[in-house]
Amino acid sequence: MTEPQQVISFSEHHRQRINHFLAHQLEQLAPQSSRLKEAVAYALLSGGKRIRPLLVYAVADMIQADMQSADHIAASIEMIHAYSLIHDDLPAMDDDDLRRGQPTCHIQFDEATAILAGDALQAMAFELLSHTPAEPSTIVSLIQYLTRACGMNGMAGGQSLDLEAEDKTLQLTELENIHALKTGALLSACVDITVLLKPGLTESTAQQLNLFGRNFGVAFQIVDDILDLTSDTQTLGKPAGSDTENNKSTYPQLLGLDQAREKAREHIETSRTALHATGLDGQHLLDLCTKILNRNN
Ligand code: IPE
Ligand code: IPE
Ligand code: MG
Ligand code: MG
Ligand code: MG
Repeated sequence: MTEPQQVISFSEHHRQRINHFLAHQLEQLAPQSSRLKEAVAYALLSGGKRIRPLLVYAVADMIQADMQSADHIAASIEMIHAYSLIHDDLPAMDDDDLRRGQPTCHIQFDEATAILAGDALQAMAFELLSHTPAEPSTIVSLIQYLTRACGMNGMAGGQSLDLEAEDKTLQLTELENIHALKTGALLSACVDITVLLKPGLTESTAQQLNLFGRNFGVAFQIVDDILDLTSDTQTLGKPAGSDTENNKSTYPQLLGLDQAREKAREHIETSRTALHATGLDGQHLLDLCTKILNRNN
């Protein structure tokens, strides 16, 4: 008698899929410096919720895009994310010593190695994206979208504004802009880049998905700000209270916890409405909306 097959959720299945794909990409590298490779593997294969890859796969599933191409997009974005976390934790930035329940990369290795691991991950992301099984003109667009999302007018720009905003009281629109850039840009890129795999999609569907992604991204960072205050280090796997210690501009600092929670709910509601407006079956994306609102790490 054969064992009954265990049914696993879409999220769990695709979390395993991205973990295998990322591990396989690293296995294929024969670098000059094994220390650098170790640091890259440490940061990339150390767990994490894999929300960005899950977004990519959920969009690909919804629009029926090619899943092998989605692997490349999901992994490239997760590499950029891993690099952004390594640099975000450095003493010159948030100066944190714990990430995903382990010492941060610069604590486990050293600062120089951590900086270089971030640099290497960024380059790896674009190399991998350039090998996406897709038309050359599509590949160029994928690369253009990702460069925009992580550059001066995306994640890096947002991180710079975030540092400038320490010890300041911002207007809500300024804070929303920081969240949209430092975190939202990469999260909404998961959606917009995957959409590029389906050139036949209508402009209005692409626009609704863009609206979905932008609001999801801002909500994600608002919840992150809330958890910094309300959760504990063990649950988070990163130091609770880090924002307070650095006197960061955050939603709860500006609005209080209740209004910050309300803002997160509003953004997620806008995301859900946008999804419904596409008329497509977006159940896996709706599940991610619920998950990020209710997450505890
Ligand atoms: C943490 O991102 C940094 C932010 C943009 C808030 P995640 O909460 O997605 O971190 P991991 O990948 O699950 O560790
Ligand atoms: C970081 O925001 C956003 C990034 C681009 C990495 P945070 O500084 O709030 O992220 P955590 O709380 O350290 O994960
Ligand atoms: Mg930060
Ligand atoms: Mg940080
Ligand atoms: Mg945070």
